[in-house]
Amino acid sequence: METQKIAAAIKSFPGMPGTAVKLLGLIDDPAMRVSQIEEILRQDPGLTANVLRLANSAYFGIPSKIGSIRQAVILLGLKRLIQMVIAVCVSAIMGKPIPGYDLPPGELWRHSIAVSVAAEGLVKELKVEAAEEIFTAALLHDVGKLVLGDFVKDDFSKIERSLCQGMSFEVAETVALGTNHAEVGAQILTHWSLPSEIVNAVQWHHQPETAEQTNTMLDIVHVADFMSIMIGIGLGRDGLQHQPSAAVSKRLGLETAQLEKVASQTMQWVTELSDVLGGA
Ligand SMILES: [Fe+2]
Ligand SMILES: [Fe+2]
Repeated sequence: METQKIAAAIKSFPGMPGTAVKLLGLIDDPAMRVSQIEEILRQDPGLTANVLRLANSAYFGIPSKIGSIRQAVILLGLKRLIQMVIAVCVSAIMGKPIPGYDLPPGELWRHSIAVSVAAEGLVKELKVEAAEEIFTAALLHDVGKLVLGDFVKDDFSKIERSLCQGMSFEVAETVALGTNHAEVGAQILTHWSLPSEIVNAVQWHHQPETAEQTNTMLDIVHVADFMSIMIGIGLGRDGLQHQPSAAVSKRLGLETAQLEKVASQTMQWVTELSDVLGGA
């Protein structure tokens, strides 16, 4: 059965590297010391080098050069550092071409980083309260495509029939496969022990009206995803099916001018950030 094969593929999907898991464990620990973070990262020099490259990118806005993890934590904060560790860890797996969705090499990475930048831009522009973890939720919102891509490819004729009947891509996925990439993504992140707010935003990013509770992180990730597609970043087979939810736009008080402003900022930052990590 397709459903069982998908469940097995989720289980065997690579976990978050041990370094990231250890750091995530520290995030809510009030007794956490910078020396503990240094100790964990010292065991992974390649990861440390990439985190420092990212910390020095203009997006994070530190004018002086950051030369050590200690400095990065002091200047950017622990939460930012952990976001960067996760970003470096997933850039390698997201740089691959994604079959089924017709995403060329590096495009899922560019799309993911675009949604993170757009989400943070929207939070600022709309002056809404959202947890800092929104960066990570946005970065990982389409992680399910990495597992579901092969299944979408094999069953594409079924999906195409549903699309011709006017169904959205994620509904067509569900009709053909019994699940969709948002649900699969949420299952992967639960497996990785990420916070439930992040899992929730990933699970409902295409259908925010269906989520049990309204939630700003989810609303923003939903709009940021639409925005990235609108500016042509991550435009795969499913791209043209996207429409932002009217309820979400209303809740956020979103205006076209704000959307356009954040979209143009996003385009600039994506070029810079995807160059820093490559992703392929
Ligand atoms: Fe998606
Ligand atoms: Fe997306």
